[in-house]
Amino acid sequence: MFETLPDPKLDGIIALMQAFAADPRMGKIDLGVGVYRDEAGRTPVMQAVKQAEAHIVATQESKTYLSLAGDVAFLDTMEGLLLGGAVPRARVAAVGTPGGTAAVRQIAELVRLVRADATIWTSAQTWPNHAPLIAAAGLKSRPYRYQDGAGAMLDRDGMFADLAGAAAGDVVLLHGCCHNPTGLDLSVQDWAEMAALLDRTGAVPFVDMAYQGFGEGVNADAGGLRHLAARLPEVLVAASCSKNFGLYRERVGVAMAIVPEAHKARLAGALASLNRQNFAFPPDHGGRVVSTILNDTALKHVWQTELEDMRTRVAQNRRTLAAALRAETGTNRFDAIEHQQGMFSLLPLSGAQVECLRADHGVYMLWDGRTNMAGLNSQTIPVLAQAIAKVVA
Ligand code: LMR
Repeated sequence: MFETLPDPKLDGIIALMQAFAADPRMGKIDLGVGVYRDEAGRTPVMQAVKQAEAHIVATQESKTYLSLAGDVAFLDTMEGLLLGGAVPRARVAAVGTPGGTAAVRQIAELVRLVRADATIWTSAQTWPNHAPLIAAAGLKSRPYRYQDGAGAMLDRDGMFADLAGAAAGDVVLLHGCCHNPTGLDLSVQDWAEMAALLDRTGAVPFVDMAYQGFGEGVNADAGGLRHLAARLPEVLVAASCSKNFGLYRERVGVAMAIVPEAHKARLAGALASLNRQNFAFPPDHGGRVVSTILNDTALKHVWQTELEDMRTRVAQNRRTLAAALRAETGTNRFDAIEHQQGMFSLLPLSGAQVECLRADHGVYMLWDGRTNMAGLNSQTIPVLAQAIAKVVA
């Protein structure tokens, strides 16, 4: 029966991970997948996670099923981390999901249940898996302008002009912080303007929050989401703990619908039912690690310190790389790297130049120039700067 099965379309990020793993060259540099690496190039288990895991192993008495929504303590904890009390608890319906990816998928399916013809507006530059996930959930997506032509700034006018065309009941996918491949985030003023625009159009925001803590700090990074939640009747959220807790393979995510109080129970039921249909119970271990950390003052402090170290290291990598590129290329073409934030920047390189970096220099970045700033260290930054100078010469 499978003779007609089409060949799978391999996801570009996964394909790049495989190509990097298969490359026998010693000096190869992985700047593809969005994973934090320390100065030694490792992605260690965070100390706070180790300690929480030890506590869980010592005290956990059962691994029997929980509810379809997952562990209530984890969900309450995530609500606090994401929303910081911006809206009453009675407005928030949430379920655990296997990672942020599944949270995006579950939210898209939730939207399809009520509005199968909704358009999900996605920024022109976005996480490469957004459009495939939306399509797999049976919805259509449409891009809105995000980055200006020079690549250094947000195209505010273009973004707001495009989104003014969203219809009531459409969904606008926004990156909470540090998730956009461009390294460009909305400012406090942009979030306020976005809230006003969504209020006018009746389109519903859907905030994908996968890098909370990598921009300006845990609370500042959630400022945009909190503003929307306080201002608008309906906000959808997909959140991940892969990056800020280093729990990548444990698959820790949350799908959340912030709605008027009268609708909360219906939304919670719909999200639980979608979980049942797609994977039944969400994974528990990683979420339990997160709630253990955030509900223990000492452990929370350890985590905050580790996250702050990661955040500042990435910012330092940005400054060092921008300076190295200025020196190597004799231009300021790459200066924007320094002022962008989070793990990614979209380097102004052509597809041919990206391919040349891979083939001739063993540097792996995404096909569009998306580069993981957290994958660099003091040894690889000069190598990368020299390689880029050669390919753009
Ligand atoms: C990335 O964007 O590289 C990561 O979030 C990994 C993924 O799932 O794509």
